[in-house]
Amino acid sequence: SLTVGFVGWRGMVGSVLMQRMREENDFNGITPIFFTTSQAGQLAPDVGQGASTLQDANDIEALSQCDVIVTCQGGDYTTAVYSSLRATGWSGYWIDAASTLRMAEESIIVLDPVNRANIDNALNAGGKTFVGGNCTVSLMLMGLHGLFAEDLVEWVSPMTYQAASGSGARHMRELISQMGSIHQVSKPYLDDPASAILELDKTVADHIRSNEYPSDQFGVPLAGSLIPWIDKAVDNGQSKEEWKAQVEANKILGTSQPIPIDGLCVRVGAMRCHSQAMTIKLKKDISVSSIESIIDNANQWASLVPNDREVTMRDLSPAAVTGTMNIPVGRVRKLAMGDQYLGAFTVGDQLLWGAAEPLRRMLAILKK
Ligand code: HSE
Repeated sequence: SLTVGFVGWRGMVGSVLMQRMREENDFNGITPIFFTTSQAGQLAPDVGQGASTLQDANDIEALSQCDVIVTCQGGDYTTAVYSSLRATGWSGYWIDAASTLRMAEESIIVLDPVNRANIDNALNAGGKTFVGGNCTVSLMLMGLHGLFAEDLVEWVSPMTYQAASGSGARHMRELISQMGSIHQVSKPYLDDPASAILELDKTVADHIRSNEYPSDQFGVPLAGSLIPWIDKAVDNGQSKEEWKAQVEANKILGTSQPIPIDGLCVRVGAMRCHSQAMTIKLKKDISVSSIESIIDNANQWASLVPNDREVTMRDLSPAAVTGTMNIPVGRVRKLAMGDQYLGAFTVGDQLLWGAAEPLRRMLAILKK
């Protein structure tokens, strides 16, 4: 059986990965070794194969005993370890959640419902490095899978509504602290139904701009506000998150002629579901009903939400999707710009399809 080393299994993405692997009995048929950057020698989690101890994640010799290494430890770890490990001649499979190696020539970005053929080709050609995509990119491709598969997309402009989890666990906590502190200062006004709305509003506005408002992580208010910039700047006015959309999506799809994909990425006060409003230029005018069935039938997770008010409000939201594998796609309609212009909205859990799920599925492919 494959010896699989896990690094960064205790962090947020790693925990979701562990949870999904337990649910799907993925530990059957592998020999797991759990690594740690800080607690070597302590007890490793028991995943049904008895007790073991944690190994040192910086011990190249120990890592090189693994047939596969799955890391959710983050980009700095990948930078610190990957090249040294490969330099020893280690030819195992490296499965990584971090972006460090995504665009490297030797890497395949994994999203097997969409690019299984590319993964298989890479495996046959001796490919050993498999990296999960950026969450927004993976979620968009899962939702619009059918349109890409039918080569109907001339370009896409995704405008995103990204959850706090994309910044990390501490940011999720801070979002809720911000919400709580808003409620606290507002409570006297809420308790008195006769209180003036503009006083309540001013109290909230003053509070979210004040030093009392908890914003160590985000640096600015998220609850009661939004942040129209995610990640660093790249040199053409795009944020790095925006830059990733086109380069990663085209790499995943394996396009020979890159499909332009660009839009603005915005952080909003959702916990772990990223949403995206997409303007799609189609290569030809096809009917909305054909488009709907293409989206709905592309894979078992994407589903079409009819463009109906009640169903949309109920099913097409972070509240409805969070913690599930569902990728609903709705608000599908032709836009006023012309018959080839389509609007659509999609929601997906950024810790599941956006991060952990493609990794566990890649491991499952290697097991076969
Ligand atoms: N970069 C994403 C975000 C999350 O900030 O929402 C990980 O891909």
